[in-house]
Order: sequence, then structure tokens, then C-alpha cells
Amino acid sequence: MTQKGNVPKGVQPPDSQLADVVPPLIVTNHMGRDLRDFNVVESLYREVHTSNQLSGDVADLINHVRRGGVIADGICREMGLNGSDRSMVSLAFSLHDMGKLHDPRIWELVNSTKRYLPDSEEKAILNRHSQYSVELLKGLNLNILEETLMLIENHHHPNRMPNENMGVLGEVMYWADRIDAIVDKRPYQDPNDVTSQRSLLMMLRGMYVEASTKGLCKHDKVYDSLNKFIRTEEFRNLYPEIKLK
Ligand SMILES: [Fe+2]
Ligand SMILES: [Fe+2]
Repeated sequence: MTQKGNVPKGVQPPDSQLADVVPPLIVTNHMGRDLRDFNVVESLYREVHTSNQLSGDVADLINHVRRGGVIADGICREMGLNGSDRSMVSLAFSLHDMGKLHDPRIWELVNSTKRYLPDSEEKAILNRHSQYSVELLKGLNLNILEETLMLIENHHHPNRMPNENMGVLGEVMYWADRIDAIVDKRPYQDPNDVTSQRSLLMMLRGMYVEASTKGLCKHDKVYDSLNKFIRTEEFRNLYPEIKLK
């Protein structure tokens, strides 16, 4: 989709010029807050958690979108993506799991330690969280581009993207999400044995083969860039307690 002031596809200027020609992808909401600031994103999650009268703490979810956002941006950087795409991925990642706060039932399932079968009703509810994210964000009247919403809605399905460039960005979202989910263990997932950089890379290799076979992913450059980013100090610093060697 094209918005006033956007750079036409295929005419991307170098990063240094982007600030002059590309308007902020976002944006402020009706309260005048800029969602590129993670403090604003964090307070938005907290506000939705409170207004939907949900139990427990939202800190784990906030930490997931914060760490995953760093991974997503690290992959983008390793791939040399332009500033416009990087900003869009960062924003989409920071907001992608808002739908887990949609209502008490899904929030209860997100925090449950039970395992649900793929064809269970519970799993179907959990799988709806990405659509709920878009629904919630639209309800908040945030000025977010359609492409950004598309990345959010399909963060588990990068193969649903409408074109090559969006497909690449969708895979960045997908891998950043999966990596944080396996390194930072989730209550509803089987425990993984990620104790070293090597074990993580081996697990990632298996996951990539599986995702490619299913047709979910096809851009090796995303996988290669993730591999590079996992080897950086910036990545290790995200999980100090795990001591990835
Ligand atoms: Fe998700
Ligand atoms: Fe997520």
C-alpha cells in the first residue's frame, strides 16, 4: 500500500537520506505518544492488561517483545536492510503479541502450564492471538501502516506475505519470535536444552529445515543473518542468565 510521502517500491535511497523523505512509520496515538519509544510500548501493554482486568503480571510478555525486537533488528542489520524496513519490523515486533491480552480466557491459556493438542479448542483460541493483536491495535486508533499490521497478523505465517520483500520481513518476525520462545522457556512449551550457543544453533538448524519443508520459510539470507547475529555479544547479552557460550 502506498501512503503520502512513502518511497515508491524499488527506489529506495540509502539510509542516510531516509530521514528526509520517509515520514515516521508511526506516529503518535491520540495521546500524542510515539510508539518507536519502547517505554511507550511497555505502558501500552500495561494499560491493556489493566483495562481488560487480567490477572498476574505482564512483565514476561513485555520482556519477550523487547528481546525479540532486538533480535529482529539484529537480523535486519546483518542483512543490510534499509531504515524504513528496519523501523517497520521493530514496530511490528514490539506490538505483535498484544492480542494475548485480548480477554481473560486467552490470557489464562497463555500463562497455563498445560499442553494442548493441535486440534483442541484451547489451541485454536491461542492461535487467534495474532488477529486479536490487530483488532486491539485498530481499536486503539493508532496510525499504523497496513503492511505493519500484516506483519503482526502473520507473525507465525511468513508464507502468507503478498510479495518478496514482505516475505523477507515476515521471516525476520517469525525467527525473532521463535528464538526468544526457545531460549526463554515458556510455561506452555516443553523445556528445551539450550545451554550453549552451539546447542541453539543446532536446534535452529533443525527448525529451519522443518520450516522450509513446510513451506513456511524460503529466504536463506534471513536464516544466515540470524546465525550471524546469534554469534554476537549483543545476542548473548540478551540472555545473561543462560550464559550462551
Ligand atoms: Fe505470537
Ligand atoms: Fe511472540
